[in-house]
Order: sequence, then C-alpha cells, then structure tokens
Amino acid sequence: MFCFLLQYAVFYFTLTHADIQCSWGVVMKNSVTIVIASRNIGKKAEIKNLLSGFPVIIKNLDDFAEIVSVEEDGETFIENACKKAKFTARLLGLPALADDSGLLVDALGGAPGVRSARYAGENASDEQKCSKLIKEMEAKSNRRAVFKCAISIAVPNGCVQTYEAECEGRISENPAGCHGFGYDSVFFYPPLEKTFAQLTMEEKGLVSHRGKALKKFRNEFDKVLSWIRQNMTTQ
Ligand code: IMP
Repeated sequence: MFCFLLQYAVFYFTLTHADIQCSWGVVMKNSVTIVIASRNIGKKAEIKNLLSGFPVIIKNLDDFAEIVSVEEDGETFIENACKKAKFTARLLGLPALADDSGLLVDALGGAPGVRSARYAGENASDEQKCSKLIKEMEAKSNRRAVFKCAISIAVPNGCVQTYEAECEGRISENPAGCHGFGYDSVFFYPPLEKTFAQLTMEEKGLVSHRGKALKKFRNEFDKVLSWIRQNMTTQ
C-alpha cells in the first residue's frame, strides 16, 4: 500500500512539475534546451554526459524536421563553429552548440587544416586520409602537428561565445592503434609515447583538443546558462 502511494505521489509530482528532469527522464526546474548542430549521435551523447547535472535538455538536428546544412567554408575552425551555431540557433529559435576541428601540419603549411574532413576527397575513408598524409610527409624532417578544436554556442539573436583548445604532437611514419577516428592512428602524442589511436577514449579525452575545449566549456557552464537565459528573454 505504501509503495502504491509513493508511486502515485511520484507520478503526480512529475505531472505537475513538467519542467523538472532528472536521471530517469529529463527534467529540472527552468531547464534550457540546447541543440547540437550535428546529426552525430556520438557527439550528442558526449555533450549530454558532459553536462549531466546541469538543467539542460540536449537535442540534435535529428530531433527536428529536415533542415538545410550550412557550408563549412570558413578560413578557421572558429569561423566554421560560429557559423554553424549561429545558423542553427536562428533557424530553430533555440540556443545551439557547434564544433569544428582538424589537424594542422607544419611541414604542409598548415594543411589539411579546415579541410581535414575532405583532405583526400569528399567521401574518402579515414584510412585514405591517413595514407595521403603519410605519403605527403615522406622525407619531411619537421613532423610537428597540432589538432585544434573550436566550440561555439549561439543564441537566436546572433550572440555567440567560443571556446578553443589545441593538442600538439607529431605525424608518425606509420599508422598505429585501432581506437578513435580520423587521423588518430598517425597522430603521435609524445607525453604518452603513443598515437591517439593507441589510447582509450577516456585517455584521449583528457589530453585531446576536443576534450580540453569541452572542459573549458563545462567549467564555465553556469555563466553560459545565465548568458543564454538573459539573451533569450531580451531578444
Ligand atoms: P569535425 O570537426 O567533426 O568536422 O572534424 C573534421 C575532421 O578533422 C574529421 O573528419 C577528422 O578527419 C579530423 N579530426 C578532428 N578531430 C579529430 C580527432 O580527435 N582525431 C582524429 N581526427 C580528427
């Protein structure tokens, strides 16, 4: 009987406090909805996990009807991340978060850079991108490379905030490791004496460009929430 009453009380409370989400649903008082400007479910899960405990509801583009995608034609990662976040926020009338990242290799004048995803052609596999990079690095003595990441959060009125981070390493002579994605198997990280593909996801997250940018974002998230609320009420 007591259990039944307790269940009924929880049910009634949930119904009457529809703006409250917790670990078994999604609700917290005054929660803010943020859209990840991506269809990548891995990214959505990562951000959701990172912001657990904050009063936010995380969605991505799959939660909305067909939307046109933005051309990533900026000269920098910041430009691309800002463009995606602003476009999505304005279109959906909700705060939107976008990231852009890539690899810059000194001996190649900063290539592949903002073209990291398309370096070996529009539909090239990670293996093809890494093979092309290793080939272009043949006989190069300076093998320094940097991964960079920019994360932008925008509100519908066009205001945007960006967090950036980078991770320095070098391009290995041969691919090694089986974890990760993209250029992980050819990015050697000297402090751990391994390529990114030889690290677990958790190990990589502690030192990677994206992990560090997300950490900065999370550390400031209380301020970001106030900024979002202020901008959403004054637009
Ligand atoms: P995006 O920021 O998800 O668009 O990534 C752009 C491209 O940069 C990816 O397709 C990868 O090729 C490369 N890239 C970005 N971050 C990483 C990483 O952490 N490891 C390996 N490759 C990456």
